[in-house]
Amino acid sequence: MENKTKDAGTAKIEIDGKTYDMPVLSGTHGPNVVDVRKFYAQSGQFTFDPGFTSTASCESQITFINGEEGVLLHRGYPIGQLAAQATFPEVCYLILNGELPSKSELSTFNDEIKQHTLLHTQLDRFFDGFRRDSHPMAMLTGTVGAMASFYPGAMDSEDPEERRLASIRLIAKMPTLCARILKYNLGQKFVDPRNDLSYAENFLNMCFSVTAEDYKVDPKIAKAMDRFFILHADHEQNASTSTVRLAGSSGAHPFAAVAAGVACLWGPSHGGANEACLNMLHEIGTVDRIPEFIEKAKDKSDPFRLMGFGHRVYKNYDPRATVMRESAHEVLDLLGLKDQPILKVAMELERIALEDEYFAEKKLYPNVDFYSGIILDAIGFPKQMFTVLFSLARTVGWIAQLNEMLVDPTQRIGRPRQIYTGAAMRDYVPMDQR
Ligand code: SDX
Repeated sequence: MENKTKDAGTAKIEIDGKTYDMPVLSGTHGPNVVDVRKFYAQSGQFTFDPGFTSTASCESQITFINGEEGVLLHRGYPIGQLAAQATFPEVCYLILNGELPSKSELSTFNDEIKQHTLLHTQLDRFFDGFRRDSHPMAMLTGTVGAMASFYPGAMDSEDPEERRLASIRLIAKMPTLCARILKYNLGQKFVDPRNDLSYAENFLNMCFSVTAEDYKVDPKIAKAMDRFFILHADHEQNASTSTVRLAGSSGAHPFAAVAAGVACLWGPSHGGANEACLNMLHEIGTVDRIPEFIEKAKDKSDPFRLMGFGHRVYKNYDPRATVMRESAHEVLDLLGLKDQPILKVAMELERIALEDEYFAEKKLYPNVDFYSGIILDAIGFPKQMFTVLFSLARTVGWIAQLNEMLVDPTQRIGRPRQIYTGAAMRDYVPMDQR
């Protein structure tokens, strides 16, 4: 990766009458950064930013978000155009390689993915250790990490071919692994991948086909699944991507770093919000109960938050939520479910929240997780599988960001400092004096 920041002047930090000059750097889009890498060496003081609300952790050329304007670009291309015109494998190629593939490049990429969709048969035995009712994200965290044991060569992160192969294997095997997790919960036989199907068709077939009868993937549902994957592919330095980068910065196995990302995505504040949001919509149940929940969300003494609302970066509509809402209407129409009470509750909740001054003042808009659960529920996925599907889609973002970090000339092991407010230094007190 070639570093492409440009000099944008100098920031002066004055402490106790001493001035420290910090370079200011600019990029292609978005805010400039004050480069504080040498600040501690020069001043003996740390910067402090828990939650990283004002901190850029890296230079990246993969994804850009303009939170004020609700813009999301992958390698410069707006998410709305990619969701409308591209396929998920095409977006994977773009995110991994930086450019849209030609027809032959995409065909070669698809063929290579199809050569790696099978899992080692030993991996299937890991499932026997799980309870049948294990949460799918617990099983995914464990099995993605376990996959590292089958590909020791990927530890050599200096080797571009090993990095490329690890990327292909992860993108190819996640659908097979995720479908097995669903089948294990259902107590049904695992269904192996089929190379005559597209990426999304193959995943749906592995999830929903049963040995007792033929299963035909509905192309419109496959398109909705493919679009869901595109909308979740990458999203700058979100919590799980930052986790993957930090884990990978020590030289850990890429599959182990991705397993760390899966673990982080599980939380209801992050990728777990899609499952939490559908639970919330079911708990609300009917439109007349919405005001009660809006008041709970505004009540500081109540930990309840509107799941699927708010975002650290978007202070406008999440562009993915716009596409997801259209897709929700399409899928429910297609499946004859457009009168689903839950869709009415979601649309009314969105309308009321967007008119409420609390949400307007705090710039809380629906995010990618608000409508996604409605789509997945309609397609037939159990709620506990929703974040597994988010993980499947985000795998390409995680591995692309990890690879970018590994070839960044400025990359070092991530090791934040702290401000210590614990006990002052003191001597050990022998037991008979306590
Ligand atoms: C994802 O980072 C990414 O890019 C993530 C993601 C990706 O693609 O990787 O986009 C995917 O994780 C989407 C977000 C999914 N999470 C949820 O929908 C859970 C509900 N939302 C929140 O918990 C919250 O909005 C976060 C976690 C998403 C963002 O939290 P922040 O940026 O730390 O904001 P905050 O918690 O400081 O909230 C700011 C204010 C607070 O009020 P004050 O303390 O200022 O008075 O807004 C309030 C919050 O109480 N607030 C909400 C709210 N979200 C924030 N109030 C009610 N309901 C909500 N949903």
